[in-house]
Amino acid sequence: MLRRLHHIQPETFAFTPANLAWAKGQISKFPEGRQASAVIPILWRAQEQEGWVTQPALEHIADMLGMAYIRVLEVATFYFMFQLQPVGSVAHIQVCGTLSCMICGAEDLIGICKDRIADHAHDISADGKFSWEEVECLGACTNAPMVQIGKDFYEDLSAETFNKILDELSAGNVPTPGPQNGRYSCEPLGGAIALSEYEPGKTPLNVSATLATEIGDTVKRIDGTEVPLLTPWLESAKAKKPAKVAAKKPAAEKPTAQKAQAKPAEPQAVVEVAPEILKAARKGGADDLKLIKGVGPKLEGVLNDLGFYHFDQIEKWTDEQIAWVDSRLQFKGRIERDDWTGQAKILAQGGETAFSEKANK
Ligand code: FES
Repeated sequence: MLRRLHHIQPETFAFTPANLAWAKGQISKFPEGRQASAVIPILWRAQEQEGWVTQPALEHIADMLGMAYIRVLEVATFYFMFQLQPVGSVAHIQVCGTLSCMICGAEDLIGICKDRIADHAHDISADGKFSWEEVECLGACTNAPMVQIGKDFYEDLSAETFNKILDELSAGNVPTPGPQNGRYSCEPLGGAIALSEYEPGKTPLNVSATLATEIGDTVKRIDGTEVPLLTPWLESAKAKKPAKVAAKKPAAEKPTAQKAQAKPAEPQAVVEVAPEILKAARKGGADDLKLIKGVGPKLEGVLNDLGFYHFDQIEKWTDEQIAWVDSRLQFKGRIERDDWTGQAKILAQGGETAFSEKANK
């Protein structure tokens, strides 16, 4: 199938602030020089935000990751999970047309898509709400025929139940995902004959369907209104090392425990303080800062430009100074996550870290 960018494109693309923070968090998972590894999750986030991958989004992501546009285009065109054309404003329906689903009625579902949405896959319905496509096996063959809508699977479908699902979505509701024929999960149609501890009915829905229902974002576009823990690895690094905060005027009145409980303290910004910087490396030359895990050639250049050439400079950074340097690097949180100061301390004393030993080999 020919996959290319759509002929009509929006002018610009920008992540919502929350999605941008999430994307930067993804990038921070990878070592310096390997930011391209984050391309798939970030393209996916762009699609979840916009519904499809636009050319401006693709270029924006390439710039974020220091990749050539063609490389990001290669990824987006290779994986069919990326939609390269506008999709329905409510839902894009992916009908599995592979063997199990086909012999169990996928053709009926495709027929309904053609009747109710559009004659051809990827065309948008007249009301703008839906689009559809046929996809390869989605791994839910036991519950054939099935469709994926947004993040969720709707399984054990019939023409009747599929029509109902489209009606619900059209009315602005999110139908409950999972089997649509009363089956709990993927047990035999006649009932479970193994796993005696298995208790259909213990909860009204199986685990996946319960979770999907609780999250409630089946067809919701990610628009920045979510409150997820976007970068748990950064949060846990912060938790290990509480940041110092700006000194506050002493409170006139000591708050009571009740008051403190009633209103949790608001997070306060860490004060930035510039560390001691040098105009050039000392005699004897600069240390090889790339021996610090998390510092690659590019970041070493940035650090040198900022006036840091030696391990003994970095080992002394306080939390406020880390905040200053952090705000001047492209990816926040890296210093604390990789414990640059701890590594620098060992290296400044002529010691080796596990990373520097490997790098020196
Ligand atoms: S054949 Fe449809 S999910 Fe596997």
